[in-house]
Amino acid sequence: MGAGRGAGIGAGVTFGPMSRRIAILPDAVADQIAAGEVVERPASVVKELVENALDAGAQHVRVAVENGGKTLIEVGDDGSGMSRDDAILAVDRHATSKIRSAGDLVGVTTFGFRGEALPAIASVSRFELVTSEGASGATRVSITGGRVDRVNDAARQRGTTVSVRALFFNTPARRKFLRSAASETRAIHEVIATLALAHPGVGFELEVDATVRLHVAAGQDAVERLAAVWGRDLAGTLVPVHYARGSVRVDGYAQRPGDARPTGRRTQLFVNGRPFRDVFLIRAAEAGYRAAIHPGDRPSLFLDIGVAPSDVDVNVHPAKLEVRFRERIAVERAVEEAVRDAIGELVAAAPVGDWRPMPSAATTDAAGLAWPDAHPAFDLDSAPGEAPGGPPTADQAFSTPLLQLFDTYILYQAAEGVVIVDQHSAHERVLYERVMAQLEREDAVGQRMLLPLTIDLTDEELDAVEAHQPELSRLGFDAEPFGGRTVILHTVPSLHARFDAGACFREVVADLARGRFGGWANRLERFAATFACRAAVKAGDPLSQAEMRELLLQLFATDLPPHDVHGRSTIVQLPREELERRFGRR
Ligand SMILES: Nc1ncnc2c1ncn2[C@@H]1O[C@H](COP(=O)(O)OP(=O)(O)OP(=O)(O)O)[C@@H](O)[C@H]1O
Ligand SMILES: [Mg+2]
Repeated sequence: MGAGRGAGIGAGVTFGPMSRRIAILPDAVADQIAAGEVVERPASVVKELVENALDAGAQHVRVAVENGGKTLIEVGDDGSGMSRDDAILAVDRHATSKIRSAGDLVGVTTFGFRGEALPAIASVSRFELVTSEGASGATRVSITGGRVDRVNDAARQRGTTVSVRALFFNTPARRKFLRSAASETRAIHEVIATLALAHPGVGFELEVDATVRLHVAAGQDAVERLAAVWGRDLAGTLVPVHYARGSVRVDGYAQRPGDARPTGRRTQLFVNGRPFRDVFLIRAAEAGYRAAIHPGDRPSLFLDIGVAPSDVDVNVHPAKLEVRFRERIAVERAVEEAVRDAIGELVAAAPVGDWRPMPSAATTDAAGLAWPDAHPAFDLDSAPGEAPGGPPTADQAFSTPLLQLFDTYILYQAAEGVVIVDQHSAHERVLYERVMAQLEREDAVGQRMLLPLTIDLTDEELDAVEAHQPELSRLGFDAEPFGGRTVILHTVPSLHARFDAGACFREVVADLARGRFGGWANRLERFAATFACRAAVKAGDPLSQAEMRELLLQLFATDLPPHDVHGRSTIVQLPREELERRFGRR
């Protein structure tokens, strides 16, 4: 920009219109063109200024905006500050302290390196920079639309504050493209969240129209920062990712499959700690979930890709939002595998089939373990051995003793090791599959009640009953409106001895009304998942040997992946080799 070299080559030098068609643009115009690329909206100004603060080693960064940043953007930091000479240079085109030659671009670790952000911003605003290195006083540089108005003394502690007023005041075309203050503020919030995640140790404060909107303390670690920025609820659904293959590392967090939803996800990618955007890498990460999530679900992801500095070009986008990898395919594959590995631990590694309880000698050959389709409705209470000549009974099918732990888990020995099954999750899977089959058939299976149940509901729940009437009745719930907010249940499904039809109906309807299980793309699946969860035996229900056997038999006959409808593991396996290794036998 014009400051400091107004009369140099390129500053407005033009030749006669006849002799030359090409003219070198005055710096001020060039800066405005650069501003068009770097400074798209208030959030881009915030991004450039906060990045500068971080590059200057700030521990605290305070951002204040008014009117979505259109009226005022102010960024203050406690970083290194600048001498007067440097402050004047800083607003000059391609003035940077961060690189000296093109070679330095490889492996550049600062956010900035082009030396064009400050002049670009100053060319399209009323700009003021106050900076101090500490002891030796402070400097104020004021610029209007790219013209330096004043350089004078000021008072300030070590650090820098940049104020940007009336953004795009001299480029009305750009000003017209600004969106509402609320939408610009959202974008600013997003920018700060991203940079706060990249620098967990630095404190950030965002003040919007004199109200503090975001405040994260200095000195946090990555997990604390993630919880502070994305919220504890979301952070609690993430599992760690640690992966290395060849020259690519992937570290970070991925959402547990069962917690992924179609909306409300957060994603953040970094390369060597530098935030960037890349929808294809996000897709690669999603591919890592395979069938563990529903097609419409969008898991939250926080991934830092580590590659050699020479394997990534960070200078390919005017606002540095994108990067270019030399080994693109290898990076995509690494991201997919990293996520797959991380969630794989939740999806029980080995296929269920290898981990069935040890069969008793009598039935291994002929009957096998798979339960034939003709199996009657789930009935935990049925005494084993009642079907002579029919499918194998629970007792015949395997003889391994079963142990119930904490009234919640079933433990047994299998050929390959020790297996622990979550009884609620197992039953939920069994019911889910059964209910899906039932919903696709037409015949109702309800049991007529001697005395009908009356159930009082809220307005939302009544709506849910009405909306799901066909599914409810196919499951066996025949609900009839009874005036006001009451419904009468004439028939209910008969599932197992512990099944409390009234409570289950109430819970399913409440879940439906609240939109829980909203992540299920398919309405029937969503319904089946809700029902299965509510109808299944619960953690804390004591089970008899016969009930446990029955449940396991049915579990091993399902085709579902080895986790429940929430993505939690159903089965945990402790391989025999692992035991032997731990006891020093190997
Ligand atoms: N908050 C700050 N504290 C200390 N020095 C700063 C600050 N902001 C800018 N500077 C100095 O001013 C120079 C110019 O900043 P500017 O943002 O224009 O360029 P850059 O950060 O080097 O590169 P880029 O254009 O890629 O951001 C920086 O190299 C740095 O030396
Ligand atoms: Mg910069």
